[in-house]
Amino acid sequence: MKTDSTTSAGASDVRFVSVEKSFETATALHSLDLEIERGTLFALLGPSGCGKTTTLRLIAGFEQPTRGQVYIRGKDVTGIPAYKRSFGMVFQNFALFPHLSVTENVAFGLQMRGIGKDVIRQKVAAVLDLVALGKFADRYPRQLSGGQQQRVALARAVVFEPDVLLLDEPLSALDKMLREQMQVEIRQLQHRLGMTTVFVTHDQEEALTMSDRVAVMNHGRIQQAGTPKDIYDRPRTEFVATFLGASNILEGHVRGREGVRAVVDVAGNLVQVSGTPVSKGKLRFALRPEKIVLDPQSGIRAVVKDVIYRGAQTFLYLDMGGIALNAVLQNTAATPADIETGTSVGLSWETASAVALEDPT
Ligand SMILES: Nc1ncnc2c1ncn2[C@@H]1O[C@H](COP(=O)(O)OP(=O)(O)OP(=O)(O)O)[C@@H](O)[C@H]1O
Ligand SMILES: [Mg+2]
Repeated sequence: MKTDSTTSAGASDVRFVSVEKSFETATALHSLDLEIERGTLFALLGPSGCGKTTTLRLIAGFEQPTRGQVYIRGKDVTGIPAYKRSFGMVFQNFALFPHLSVTENVAFGLQMRGIGKDVIRQKVAAVLDLVALGKFADRYPRQLSGGQQQRVALARAVVFEPDVLLLDEPLSALDKMLREQMQVEIRQLQHRLGMTTVFVTHDQEEALTMSDRVAVMNHGRIQQAGTPKDIYDRPRTEFVATFLGASNILEGHVRGREGVRAVVDVAGNLVQVSGTPVSKGKLRFALRPEKIVLDPQSGIRAVVKDVIYRGAQTFLYLDMGGIALNAVLQNTAATPADIETGTSVGLSWETASAVALEDPT
């Protein structure tokens, strides 16, 4: 299986070609294709059990694929064990050595690699500065806050300048405030080092905040990969549309087409949907609540069922000919207009905001 052939994948640092991973009991990954460019902060996002950790372990070499190839920096590393690969990893419970000081924790991996004492001292000092822990060098893990421990774990993973940094839900043990702070810190650190980083999370906001690229996974498959904006604005499936942010999922009958747009009858309202949908029959599409605007001129009508004022925004719960629809209005005016429940309102949105979805097959 193992070959030393290099590929012409160019700047891609991690590449999976039709990687399948089966355990005795189940198939964790189905024919996964993945390409991560050098220097990218790449998030694997998906619900519990979808195969995120398995993907990370395949990059590390803790697992080997049942089928397919794994390339790192253009080299086929399929079959090569973890200890012969170059990666730094932070696990969910970041497991520092409790009896070692911060310096000793960070130096450990370098000592294992047989690096000289002076070089170690230099590298450890530099990396502790990088994560703003220089003053804590002699403390023990129990004398540090959760966020500081997290930074030690990061320092330990990056100190030997690995090809790839792998982070498996590294922030899940931290409270919300600290997590948000660490999200920004990890992102800044990653940009400073330019190290290709694969980051596992099941938190969609974390994925949006932190990553250059996201792969949304479900049931051992990548449903969609792209920039956070791409995926948010143009979800391909219902799963992606609802897992990443909130979305109205609507269904109607196609009445006609204009190029890549379809005119769809949703409960008696004719709406335009973008994408390359079917030309006949039923069509499902996604529409983000914040893309809907009130438009008295519009022929698309809905009855206001409930209004929830939330300061910066107003949430509207609407009924469009028997179909429930949620809208979010930004309260940009000094005094936002009062919207009464029970009244009929006109709605509109840009055609590009109504995105045709693929069949789940
Ligand atoms: N060593 C193993 N033996 C058998 N099945 C496994 C093994 N490791 C993982 N699996 C199965 O493979 C699937 C994917 O697991 P994985 O740990 O990759 O999920 P995950 O996306 O990381 O989930 P979580 O968010 O809960 O950590 C699951 O159904 C899991 O039960
Ligand atoms: Mg996991």
